[in-house]
Amino acid sequence: MTYEVRVETPSVEVYRHLRVAAGLSPKSAAAAAAGLHGTWHAVVAYHDEQPIGMGRVIGDGGTAFQIVDMCVLPEHQSRGVGKRIMAALMQQLLDHAPSTAYISLIADGAARHLYAQYGFAETAPESIGMARRL
Ligand SMILES: CC(C)(COP(=O)(O)OP(=O)(O)OC[C@H]1O[C@@H](n2cnc3c(N)ncnc32)[C@H](O)[C@@H]1OP(=O)(O)O)[C@@H](O)C(=O)NCCC(=O)NCCS
Repeated sequence: MTYEVRVETPSVEVYRHLRVAAGLSPKSAAAAAAGLHGTWHAVVAYHDEQPIGMGRVIGDGGTAFQIVDMCVLPEHQSRGVGKRIMAALMQQLLDHAPSTAYISLIADGAARHLYAQYGFAETAPESIGMARRL
């Protein structure tokens, strides 16, 4: 199968569909619209002109960035699309973020093996990732 990774921010509809279909938590249309507006960089992966994956970088544009919303539809997983998405996001960071930028992410399950290929390492025990939901 052939895939194309395009630099673009997903629409609210595509974003909400891809997240849920890939097993990530749902977001309301209002939350998605507000969040997508704050995108620093994003890509959408296509197969047969249909969106099948995405990834985004959010952040302040200078000091701190986070990789979020990484997902590929189950029927297209394990075919290298996730790696192409990560490579595109990392290239943008390497080209446009200051060398002092701190780039973080939260890896769910086996996705840690993907991120490790792009230089991400566990922060523990020196630093512990912390999170909460409202
Ligand atoms: C995580 C996800 C985006 C990866 O996308 P993908 O297209 O399946 O990934 P790729 O085919 O490009 O493979 C990525 C690499 O991850 C690694 N990997 C993926 N799953 C793995 C597993 N279960 N065990 C070990 N390594 C694994 C592999 O090393 C692979 O690299 P390799 O081909 O050099 O061995 C996708 O599986 C997904 O959408 N999962 C559900 C949503 C999710 O959990 N998103 C991540 C939130 S942090």
